[in-house]
Amino acid sequence: MKGLILSGGTGSRLYPLTYTNAKQLIPVANKPILFRVIESIRDAGIDDIGIVVGSTAEQIKDAVGRGNRWGVNITYIPQEKPLGLAHAVKIAQPFIGDDRFVMFLGDNVIQGGISTLISQFATSDWNSQIVLTRIEHPEQYGVAELGEDGHIVRLVEKPKVPPSDLALVGIYMFDHHIFEAADRIKPSWRGELEITDAIQWLVDHNCTVHPYIHRGWWIDTGAPGDMLSANDLVLEEIEHAIEGYVDRDSKVDHRVTIQRGAEIINSTVRGPAIIGEHARIINSYVGPYTSIDHHVVVENSEIEHSMVLENSRILDIEARIQDSLIGRDVVVARSPIRPKALKLTVGDHSKVGIL
Ligand code: TTP
Repeated sequence: MKGLILSGGTGSRLYPLTYTNAKQLIPVANKPILFRVIESIRDAGIDDIGIVVGSTAEQIKDAVGRGNRWGVNITYIPQEKPLGLAHAVKIAQPFIGDDRFVMFLGDNVIQGGISTLISQFATSDWNSQIVLTRIEHPEQYGVAELGEDGHIVRLVEKPKVPPSDLALVGIYMFDHHIFEAADRIKPSWRGELEITDAIQWLVDHNCTVHPYIHRGWWIDTGAPGDMLSANDLVLEEIEHAIEGYVDRDSKVDHRVTIQRGAEIINSTVRGPAIIGEHARIINSYVGPYTSIDHHVVVENSEIEHSMVLENSRILDIEARIQDSLIGRDVVVARSPIRPKALKLTVGDHSKVGIL
């Protein structure tokens, strides 16, 4: 089997973080989501992986390279415009050839990996297997309606009135029939070739599409709230280890990871949390569900349930920072210069909550 990861798209729901950066490279618990996707495909025994890339192609290539780090072989498939998931499948046909394959959205995180799913599909004669999960508000997703005997009756993309609470998780398995389906369907009202329409075509043409109901958690990191939730869940799951330096005046509990070269000085870190490589936490408090990325400095401040990305600095902030998503190279600092005022340089689409 081969793997296909979709890492094109616009990422508009995550502005401003994704104005300049690919959303698939935003780190969850200090590791880009895309790396987690590559690892779960590799762990399922697949080493031939195609990545569909769009306007952020260069960044993705710089970060992932040829895949040596994971022992896999990466092929890049450029997509001129984000014309839909089924369009991405179409352009991947020369890479996939006649193989069966798993397609994984590059911004999705799922609990427990996909090894069982893959081996189930690899040894079956099904034409496709889709992953479904029960969610409270399926309106934002592709939704499946199952018949009494559990087979798929109908799939609808972002329905106003969902026929069930079963949303399509961003992991799909196909054989070559999907290429015919993608050729036959027409773009939807939003101008995209929808994967739900292609799968519906398979169902309507007597192909076997097997629904698998996933019971663990699943996060589509498309929106900022989801990014923090994904971070919470992954922080709960990873094995914690202390590889950096913790001085005698600091308190760090067992659900904390301190990565190489990080320093914790006169501070308290409560897990689950991760402190990145060469980050420095000085006279500060880092609370549960926080990821402090590489080379970040937190000094004389308190922060919890937040993510701070690479190279940012949080200095001398009196109020506790909470539920926050802070990008790369950001400075949040107390300013001693009069007049005493809030002095903000904030990019487009940012949100600032002031006490
Ligand atoms: P989406 O989150 O549906 O789309 P998007 O990335 O354009 O985001 P937004 O709606 O916030 O602007 O895409 C799911 C995944 O599939 C994501 O990793 C991007 C990828 N993708 C492609 O590779 N090609 C495409 O044509 C589309 C629509 C998405």
